[in-house]
Amino acid sequence: MEFAELFKMATEAATRSYSPYSKFRVGAALLCEDGTVVCAANVENRSYGLAICAERSAMVSAIAQGKKEFRALAISCPDAAYPVSPCGACRQFISEFVGAEFPIRFGGSGGGFVDTTMGELLPHDALHELASRP
Ligand code: THU
Repeated sequence: MEFAELFKMATEAATRSYSPYSKFRVGAALLCEDGTVVCAANVENRSYGLAICAERSAMVSAIAQGKKEFRALAISCPDAAYPVSPCGACRQFISEFVGAEFPIRFGGSGGGFVDTTMGELLPHDALHELASRP
């Protein structure tokens, strides 16, 4: 699947965002190893700090559906004219399940986007060493 199509799915997912407080919709589309795509959006709460980003929402949803391997992630922010990158918490969260080469595209409404990788967004990540301890 092309990134263009994945990004379109992320933009579609953003329409299902629950973001009455920030009024900032974000959609994510996660391409799984089996070829399926798990889409999600940000979900906010009146207790503001409880907001869940679209990216984490997608990862959690995919893992809960039994998906274990992932090929690519697209993130769409239709309420921003510029590409908005994943927050620090999401970078850490996504990195639990993908490698440094994992491709990520994020874009805003203006048609511009950034193609990057997990390793670029979260460099010097050594914590996988902890995960592989016997
Ligand atoms: N948000 C995301 O869902 N992903 C991002 O990458 C940036 C921020 C959400 C969190 C909150 O609901 C709203 O956007 C404003 O920060």
